[in-house]
Amino acid sequence: MLTVAILAAGKGTRMASSLPKVLHKLSGKTLLQRVLDSCNELNPNKVFIIVGHKSKEVEDSVIKSKKIHFIVQEPQRGTGHAIQILSKQVKKYKGKLLVLNGDVPLIKSETLRKLLNFHDSRNADVSLITTKKKNPHGYGRVFIKDNLIENIIEEKDCDDYQRKNSLINAGIYCFSWMTLSKIINSLKSNNKQNEIYLTDTLTLLKNSYSLEIEDNGELQGINNRLQLSKCEETIQISTKEKHMISGVTFINPASCTISEESVIGTDVIIEANTHIRGKSKISNNCKIGPNTFIQDTVVNENCEIINSTIFDSKIMDHVKIGPYSHIRPNCEISSFGKIGNFVEIKNCQLDEKVKVNHLSYIGDSKVGEHTNIGAGTITANFDGLKKHHTNIGKNSSIGANTVFVAPINLGDSVTTGAGSVITKDSKNNSLAISRSKQINIENWKKNES
Ligand code: UD1
Ligand code: MG
Repeated sequence: MLTVAILAAGKGTRMASSLPKVLHKLSGKTLLQRVLDSCNELNPNKVFIIVGHKSKEVEDSVIKSKKIHFIVQEPQRGTGHAIQILSKQVKKYKGKLLVLNGDVPLIKSETLRKLLNFHDSRNADVSLITTKKKNPHGYGRVFIKDNLIENIIEEKDCDDYQRKNSLINAGIYCFSWMTLSKIINSLKSNNKQNEIYLTDTLTLLKNSYSLEIEDNGELQGINNRLQLSKCEETIQISTKEKHMISGVTFINPASCTISEESVIGTDVIIEANTHIRGKSKISNNCKIGPNTFIQDTVVNENCEIINSTIFDSKIMDHVKIGPYSHIRPNCEISSFGKIGNFVEIKNCQLDEKVKVNHLSYIGDSKVGEHTNIGAGTITANFDGLKKHHTNIGKNSSIGANTVFVAPINLGDSVTTGAGSVITKDSKNNSLAISRSKQINIENWKKNES
């Protein structure tokens, strides 16, 4: 039987933030949710999350399940105190208790599984993940004697000699819960920070084993923003490497960020300063960027998107977007469409081969296939209270600087005169024009010669 406890009650003073530390995000996901996701893969019986500082915010952030229970630690007197509070509220100390610091977000479920197997194979009281760090500053140092952990000394409590030890505590422990429950209340706070340290249990328990793992970037604790950005870098490097190996070209990978959930096809070229976020999908043979931001968007094959921003939309194949286009949520741009510079599109269905090439705002609209929207066209979709719809049929030719005052419906093959303000519906094959006739006043200027 496996029970998990995640320590997430601390404030995270070193983050210098009003946000609780475990709610800071890496690649769009909170530190706490990352730890939780790794634990969930082990299919534990119960998961206890120890909360304290801004507990409601922390509880609200978590994707809930029946297995998850929140335990409030108030005040927060240290990691050992957190488990003391837990053990007061739980009476059945059966099986293993896996304890994880909520600020070690890159831990993989395979590594946790390794720890559980290691623990069983040793019949241990406690097993701890350790690693040798080139720069162990800030971590608890682990001292081993006769193959057993003798003690863990926190950075602040170390003398100069002890501080040279590079074997560190990663903050991930597997306890035999029954054995732990017998000693958990004997922890003292006689240390520099005057806190009750969970690490002191390693001295109190007899069979304390270290599972040393190579430092592969997975065992980083986050106490400040520098460490946060190092973890983000670790995620980004591995995400981009994965895509490169499977056939994506990055012109300047260091300048790009890609979410872990995004899917990218083969022979896609990602130019410099391009960011693909959320659950996006870029299909084969697309060229994206430079300077492009795409969030939660599907882009089908053979599209070219340059210097543009796209949210929550669907771009079909062979579409060209940009430079300087802004596609806002809920757009579908059908095959062979073209969206050009300084064009904003929102909540629109544009059928095949529609062109909106210059300086336009098209919102809450449907545009039929083969229609060309002239430069400067605006859908005036908001009357001050409500948004209204514009329907433009297929094969139409919308003159430059047309304003559609929505709601409005145009048939197929409609032409609008440049500079028209269209307030009335028009039928198939008509010309809609609304502008004052030009008059020429001759000899307006005196002939000075
Ligand atoms: C801790 C370990 C250290 C280890 C490092 C690994 C102790 C005493 N030290 O140090 O040996 O190398 O993690 O990253 O455990 N928390 C609570 N309640 C509290 C205090 C903290 O729930 O009263 C939570 C925090 O929210 C955090 C985790 O416990 O998620 C670790 O606390 P933190 O203050 O970051 O400990 P470190 O100094 O990093
Ligand atoms: Mg920490």
